[in-house]
Amino acid sequence: MKQLFSNATQVVTCAGPARARRGTECQALEILSGAAVLVDGARIVAVGPNEALCAAHPDAHVVDCGGRVLLPGLVDSHTHGIFGKARFEEQELRAAGVGYMEIARRGGGIHSSVRDLRARSEDDLFALALPRLTRLAAHGTTTIEVKSGYGLTLDDELKSLRVIRRLQQVLPLRLVPTFLGAHEIPLEYRAAPRTRQEYIALLVDEMLPRVAAEGLATFADIFCEPGVYTPDESRLILGAARRHGLKIKLHADELETSGAAELAVELGATSADHLAAISDAGIRALASAGTVATLLPGTMLFLGRERQAPARALLDAGAAVALATDFNPGTSPTVNFPLILTLAISQLHLSVSEAVLASTVNGAAAVGLAAETGQLAPGFSADLALFDIEDVRELPYWYGDQRCHATWVRGVKAHGAGVGA
Ligand code: NIG
Ligand code: FE
Repeated sequence: MKQLFSNATQVVTCAGPARARRGTECQALEILSGAAVLVDGARIVAVGPNEALCAAHPDAHVVDCGGRVLLPGLVDSHTHGIFGKARFEEQELRAAGVGYMEIARRGGGIHSSVRDLRARSEDDLFALALPRLTRLAAHGTTTIEVKSGYGLTLDDELKSLRVIRRLQQVLPLRLVPTFLGAHEIPLEYRAAPRTRQEYIALLVDEMLPRVAAEGLATFADIFCEPGVYTPDESRLILGAARRHGLKIKLHADELETSGAAELAVELGATSADHLAAISDAGIRALASAGTVATLLPGTMLFLGRERQAPARALLDAGAAVALATDFNPGTSPTVNFPLILTLAISQLHLSVSEAVLASTVNGAAAVGLAAETGQLAPGFSADLALFDIEDVRELPYWYGDQRCHATWVRGVKAHGAGVGA
């Protein structure tokens, strides 16, 4: 079936090379007026003048964009979407001066989500994740990377990844599964008689081979941070992930500088994420490599930390910058991707053009899908988001609002009137 998306005030194509845009390339955002997008089945086949496309394809079903703004569906390349309970009690603790890592040392934080998730069934987790991911989609997101990482046993990690697989089967979204068994050292391996080395052996010898053999994840990720995994441990675990055919990502230099960004480059990671505490050497390393710098300003805002990632320095050095929500119960419980664009502008000093490309083309590159999604251009998947605005600059402007009118994934409506009816 052909569909012609016409009558948008602006078509923000993000068109250009099918790879991450770096440095100054992010200043060039293609915005067309009077344009339409022709979709055939799951693919975009043409982007061009409204009248000419309408005349050439009278058989196409017309989707009237009603004077709104059409963009590529947003690509959220970093979420921890599989969890049980919320962790709102930690918010007041932090406000009272107890730090994120101190809460973890007291057995809260990630450990608290781990205790909770282990007690839940796969069905229960599926029932919780489904509306959460649907809410992410309601803000214009069409591709979501989803991590495990609150199980930290073989069975509980497999359970989490199987929930992602089930979500892939029922949700009209593109989900990218990531194995994050190295999210923490589980408490039972932090005290005698067990050791952290034993947990790392479990990751390398049992969990990674099983996850890879069952085809349950595209990526492996790790929390490389003082107090969690060291750079040497990260090298070992991610090296094993690589040997099993998984692509890799790192939570890098999130709270303290540890050289994790440089390690991400050394290991050929697809992305290095967070980077609020990246060093100058880390910036230089990312600027000279293919690893995408994924920035998560919602996390620093929610944690109440003053230091945001040095986005300007990264861009000015020529790095490829992506943005994501980091949706998770501890440090970023937001489903509102456009709000992250607002923060990218007000806190990270990005331009609208840079923020939009970081949330589409570069988000796609951060999950290895730069040739598949993130652009409104012929050959790309028909992943579109229609926003109730007249100028793309309004997207980050009406902050906290819900302006997404509808989305389509692979040409199928995923959010908006009629979906789920
Ligand atoms: O990206 N830093 C590690 N992981 C998450 C937080 C997880 C949690 O607190 O539950 C993050 O910030
Ligand atoms: Fe994270």
